[in-house]
Formats: sequence, structure tokens, C-alpha cells
Amino acid sequence: MADLQPLRVAIVGLGTVGSGVAKILLENSQHIARRSGREIDVVFAIVRDPTKPRGVTLPDGVLATSFELMESPEIDVVCELIGGTTTAGDVVRQALNAGKHVVTANKALLCEQGDELFQLAREKGKTICFEAAVAGGVPVIEGLSQSLAANQIQSIEAIVNGTSNFILTEMLDHQSSYEDAVARAQEKGYAEADPTMDVDGTDAAQKLTILAQLAFGTKASLNDFPRQGIDKLKLADLKYADELGYRVKLLAVAKRNGDFLELHTQPTLIHDNLPMAAIYDAYNMIEIEGDAVGKTWFSGMGAGQMPTASAVVSDLIDLAVGRAQQTFPLLDLWGQSEPLRILPAEKIERRYYLRFHAIDQPGTISSIATILGNHEISIASCIQHEFEIHPADSGEGKASIVPFVVITHTTTEGQMRAADEELIQCDAIEPDYLRLPIQD
Ligand code: NAP
Ligand code: HSE
Repeated sequence: MADLQPLRVAIVGLGTVGSGVAKILLENSQHIARRSGREIDVVFAIVRDPTKPRGVTLPDGVLATSFELMESPEIDVVCELIGGTTTAGDVVRQALNAGKHVVTANKALLCEQGDELFQLAREKGKTICFEAAVAGGVPVIEGLSQSLAANQIQSIEAIVNGTSNFILTEMLDHQSSYEDAVARAQEKGYAEADPTMDVDGTDAAQKLTILAQLAFGTKASLNDFPRQGIDKLKLADLKYADELGYRVKLLAVAKRNGDFLELHTQPTLIHDNLPMAAIYDAYNMIEIEGDAVGKTWFSGMGAGQMPTASAVVSDLIDLAVGRAQQTFPLLDLWGQSEPLRILPAEKIERRYYLRFHAIDQPGTISSIATILGNHEISIASCIQHEFEIHPADSGEGKASIVPFVVITHTTTEGQMRAADEELIQCDAIEPDYLRLPIQD
């Protein structure tokens, strides 16, 4: 250990994750040096505003504002922890061009520009490590790309957005309003700078594209598969699901379906007896099924300062030890064989939860059933409670509105989409009709 030079790091972006990385590297330096066989030194922490409190005490001379410092011969690795895709992309390119390895937690960047950046890394003979980009502190990238490398992966089903899972837990278990739950997720440092990316399903879908490429070699972009967030759910939906024996989770799925890859990211009713249903708060779970190993489950904190920083530092330790080179070629390895093609969304087969706010008048249920029947969608069960809005509150002469929930038998996304077009035109139904898939 004494003979090896320290690994010298520039952290770019000292927000939630960057400050956590600096804290671990400074506070656990001796432990890390023992595990790495050499020291890992923070040489520069590059920020926009050097006067802003960072929650970490850095040695003199470390805090800096110039991106030029990334190119210094005193630096071996750049940790890009800014987020977003514009400046962050420039930082990664500048670092690689200057001959530095890169560690990033930025799934948005890898999803959008991964091909170009990994190509550049290969040309420069450098590594991009990204354990923190999927599921925060959970070591799923290493698990998938190294520990399960013997397997042909059959499926990945994953809760990979901590913010959404936290919001869904807060709403159902603590009766929080949606808005309060979003604000708490932001306070706790789980949410993206723009939390829209968390709640509209974008963040989970970006992570799914990374997992799908690692597992199946399929390069998907966000418009290639169904993506829906938790932002249209109401507390009542979580309660109806609970009544039916399900928990609603934002579920990202990539699975072999014949010669195709089925991909989607949607809030899904997960049966109570499945392990995924028990994942609460900002915890993530990734279920990976391999042909040899069977099902494996990776679970832990998927967001937040220290869990995410733990994953970033583990990448730095891999670089210090010299075993990190293995991670990036895997993304490209698949280029040599035929990757699975994405299954057209219309062909995805599942059961569905349909929630209507329907006008409480003769014939409403028969209109819904007729539309579903016309598209050969069979009803497995339904719930209708007493009126949600009392006639006295709905305005003179107006009928009351009742929630009406239908569970279908297995049908295709294509049949459901065709039925949706008629359902949203139906006068007996309010426009806030919601459809979610079911996982039994
Ligand atoms: P954050 O708290 O918003 O921190 C971002 C940092 O980058 C801030 O320090 C910000 O500076 C700095 N920054 C932004 N634009 C910059 C620019 N143009 N030049 C210099 N610095 C700039 O974000 P975060 O939560 O730490 O997330 C960082 C990355 O980790 C993102 O890619 C995110 O997706 C990923 N990630 C986050 C989590 C999590 O739980 N938070 C988990 C996994 C992955 P100021 O401080 O001056 O504003
Ligand atoms: N905003 C992300 C989440 C951070 O909530 O999961 C982890 O990538």
C-alpha cells in the first residue's frame, strides 16, 4: 500500500450527492485506503458558488470554481455530480478528453448520451463508472454486469425511483397529501432538482434503459416504450388497490417475451404476496431473473445523500484497485451480437385496473361493460361504493358521481388503447379515467 500513489479525485458539483462523497472520502479515509490498497484524495471540489454552505469541511485549497482544474495533471478521476445533461455532458467529455476516468451518478446523461460518451471513453482508454446511476446505494450495476454474468437474463422488474416510492408510502400509510409528500421527498434529498422527472416516470424509465442495455443489449430511448408516472394517482386509488389486496408501485419492467424485449415503466398494482409490494419509503428493489440463478433480489436505499455517495465511492475504490475497467466494456459488448428488439406496446399482455368516476344513473355500468366487451376485454371483478359526491353537493339537477373500479382479465395493451378511445368519449364517465397494469 505504501508504494502506490493516491488516486486523485476532482468532484464536480457539491450538492446532495457531491457533499456526501466528500464526507465519506474525508471521514473514512483510513478505512478506504485499507480497502483500496492506496489513498483516495479529494484534490478539488468544483462548485459554482464557493460561499454557499456545503455541510462538509474541506481542506484548504480544495474548493474551486474553474472547470479547467479537471484537466490538471494532479487529477486521475473526475466525479460528475452536477446532474442534468448539458453542462454535465460537457464536463464528462472534457474529463475524458483530458485523459481522466469518470464516475457519475447521472442516469439522465447516460440514457441520452451514453453511446457517445462510452465511445469516447473507449477511444481514450478510460472508464466511466456509474453504480450510483441506478438504485442509489444498491449495488445492482455490479450485480448485473459481474456477479450475474454467467446468466442469460430473463427479466428485470424494478422499483427504481425512491421519490415515487416515498410519496406512495407517505400517502397511503401516513395519509399525507400528494403535495406534502413531494415536498418531504425534496427536503430529504431524494428528488431530482426538477421533481417532475421523478413523478412523471422519466427517472425510472432512464434507469430502465441502462438496465435493459446491460442485461439484454437493447438500446432503448424514452419514446420506445410505455411510460407513466404517479402524478395522476389519487389516494383513493391506493385505497382501492389495498382493498383488492395490492400495493401500487412505480414498476419498471424489462423482460424477454419470445424473440422480443417487453419494456414499460408504469404505476402497477402489485399483489401483496410479492416481495416488491413490501418495499416502502425511498427503498428500491430490483428483481433479476437469470436462466441459471433463478430469481435474485437487490434492495436498499435508492436515493438520498449517503446511500448514493456510498455507490460513488465504491466506484472510486474499484478504480483505485484497478478492477473498474470491467464495467464499461459490458455496455458495448452487446454491439457484437443481435440485441433483442423491443416488443410493440400494443402486444403487451396484462390484467388491468380501471378506475372511473361515473355518473350515478341507470345504464352507466352497462355502457362501460359494453365498450369493454366490444373490444373483447373481459371483466374479472368490480367495486362500486356509495356515492363519493353527494347529490346535494353536485349542483341542482346533477346526478352524483360514484367511483367505479374494474379489474380485467388478461388483455392486450392494444385492445385497452382502443377501448380507452371510446371510454373517454363516454358521457357517463368523468375525464379523469385511470388505467394501471396489474402484477399478480
Ligand atoms: P443537487 O443537490 O442539485 O446538486 C447539484 C450540484 O451541482 C450543486 O452543487 C450545484 O451547484 C452543482 N451545479 C449545477 N449546475 C452547475 C454548473 N453549471 N456548474 C457547476 N456546478 C453546478 O443534485 P444531487 O441530488 O446531488 O444530484 C447529483 C446527481 O446525482 C444527479 O445526476 C442525480 O440524478 C444523481 N443522483 C442523485 C440521487 C439523490 O438521491 N439525490 C441519487 C442517485 C443519483 P450549486 O450548489 O451552486 O447549486
Ligand atoms: N431522484 C432519484 C430517486 C434519485 O428518487 O430515485 C436516485 O436516482
